[in-house]
Amino acid sequence: MSCSKTGIGLAGFGTVGSGVWKIIERNGGLINSRSQGAISIAIRKIAVRDLTKTRGADAPNDLFTTNLMDVVEDPSVDIVVELIGGTTAAFDLIAAALKAQKPVVTGNKALLAERGAELFALSAEMKTSIYFEAAVAGGIPIIKAIQESLIGNQIEDIVGIINGTSNYILQRMTEAGLGYPEALKEAKDLGYAEADETLDVNGWDAAHKAILLGSLAHGFLIDPTDVYVRGIEKITPLDISFASNLGYVVKLLSFVRLKENGAVEIRTQPSFISKKHILASVNGVFNAVAIKGDGLGESLFYGRGAGQEPTASSVISDLAEAARSIRNADSNRGFLPHRSDGQLVPIAETETSYYIRFSVKDQLGVIADISRILADVGLGISGTHSPVDPDNPDAEFVEMVFLLHSCRFGPLKTALAKVEELDCITARPVVFRIEKL
Ligand code: NAP
Ligand code: HSE
Repeated sequence: MSCSKTGIGLAGFGTVGSGVWKIIERNGGLINSRSQGAISIAIRKIAVRDLTKTRGADAPNDLFTTNLMDVVEDPSVDIVVELIGGTTAAFDLIAAALKAQKPVVTGNKALLAERGAELFALSAEMKTSIYFEAAVAGGIPIIKAIQESLIGNQIEDIVGIINGTSNYILQRMTEAGLGYPEALKEAKDLGYAEADETLDVNGWDAAHKAILLGSLAHGFLIDPTDVYVRGIEKITPLDISFASNLGYVVKLLSFVRLKENGAVEIRTQPSFISKKHILASVNGVFNAVAIKGDGLGESLFYGRGAGQEPTASSVISDLAEAARSIRNADSNRGFLPHRSDGQLVPIAETETSYYIRFSVKDQLGVIADISRILADVGLGISGTHSPVDPDNPDAEFVEMVFLLHSCRFGPLKTALAKVEELDCITARPVVFRIEKL
C-alpha cells in the first residue's frame, strides 16, 4: 500500500462520482471510527472528460485529469473506482486496474452484464476483485445480501422493480397524467436516467441488473442474448387507464425464477400487477427486490434505486470492503461462476395470464374471429372489455381488450400473428402480462 490511507482513483465525477466525493468528505471519519481505524480512504486522482465543467462538489483542481489511465497508474492509487459508464473505455480501464492488481469498484451494470465473462475471468487470474454493489438497485445493498446474508439459501425466486427511471416515468404517467416525454425529462433532470436513457426505457438497464442478480444467485453467467426484454417506451396513457379500471397498475418487472427442473426463467417487461400487491406501492425512483430463499422464505428489499447519494452509498460500502481486502488478501471476494450446467427457460415456455388490446374496425364478427383464433391454439378468455365512447357510440374504430387465462407465451405468439392478418385489425396488438405475485 502507498501510505497509511488507502488511495482511491476515481474515474468519473458526474452524478455518482461527485456523490462519492461528498460522502467521503462528510463521513470519512465515521467510516474510520466504525472500522476501528482499519478503513481510512482518500481520493488521490479524478478523471473526467472536460476540466472546465462546473461540478456539483468541490474537489481540488490538482486531483483532476483527462487521462483515464492516470487513475490506475498513479502510484498513490490502491483502488480504482469506475463511474464513467459505457462498455468500451470502462472495460479498458477496469482491465488495466485488474492487471495492476488494484481492486475495482464499479456501478456499471451494462458492462458487467455484457462483458462480465472477460472481466471476471481476468479478476480470477489476477486474484483481484471487482465489487459492484452500486450496479443493482442503487442504494439497496442487494449484492451483499445475496453473496453474504443469503449464502445458505437456495434462491428460488427474485421479482424486482429495478429501474428507477422507468418506475418514476410510469408513476408520473399514472398519477399526474403526464405524457411519456415530459415524465422522461423529469427523470433525466433528477439524475436518475443514464447519460443515454435508451437502456432505461427499453428495459435493458433493468435486464442487465437481473442478469447480475441471476448470475450471483445461480452461479453461472447468464448470456444477455438469451434474455427476453421489453421496455416502457411504447406504453400509452390508454393502457395505463384500462389497467387501472381493471384493478391493476403497470410496473416494469424483472424476474429470476428457479423452475423445478433446475432451469432459470429470466425476463424483464412491463406487466400488470394487482393494485393491492405490495410492489404496486413502490413508486418514483424507489426500487424493490422481493427474494424467496428456501431457508429465509420471502423478504423484500426496498430503497432508492438511483440518484447521487443513494448510489454513492453503495459505492462506498464496496470501497470499504476493497480497502479491507488490501489489508487482508484472504478476504478478496468478487464473483466467480461455480456452475457449468446452468440453463434458462425458453421464453415460449413461460406462463402467465395476459391483457391484449386490439385496435379494430368495428364490423360484424370481429370478436368471434379473434376468439376462434385464440381457441384454435387452446387459449381461454377470462374477460373482455370494450369501452364505448358516449360521444361517438357508432365509431368506426374501437379498442377491444381480451383478458386471457394463464397460458404459455409460445401459442399466444402464434395466435397473435394470425390475428394480425385479419382485415379488421388496424394496429399491432398491445400485450401485457398479468402477474400473480
Ligand atoms: P454521469 O453523470 O454521466 O457521469 C459520468 C462521468 O464520467 C462524468 O464526470 C464524465 O466526465 C466522466 N467520463 C465519461 N467518459 C469519460 C472518459 N472517457 N474519460 C474520462 N472521464 C469520462 O454518469 P453517472 O450517472 O454518474 O453514472 C456513472 C455510472 O454509474 C454508470 O455506469 C451508471 O450506469 C452507474 N449508475 C448510475 C446511477 C445513477 O443514479 N446515476 C445509479 C447506479 C449506477 P465529464 O463530467 O467531464 O463529462
Ligand atoms: N438509470 C438507472 C435507473 C440508474 O434509473 O435505475 C440506477 O442504476
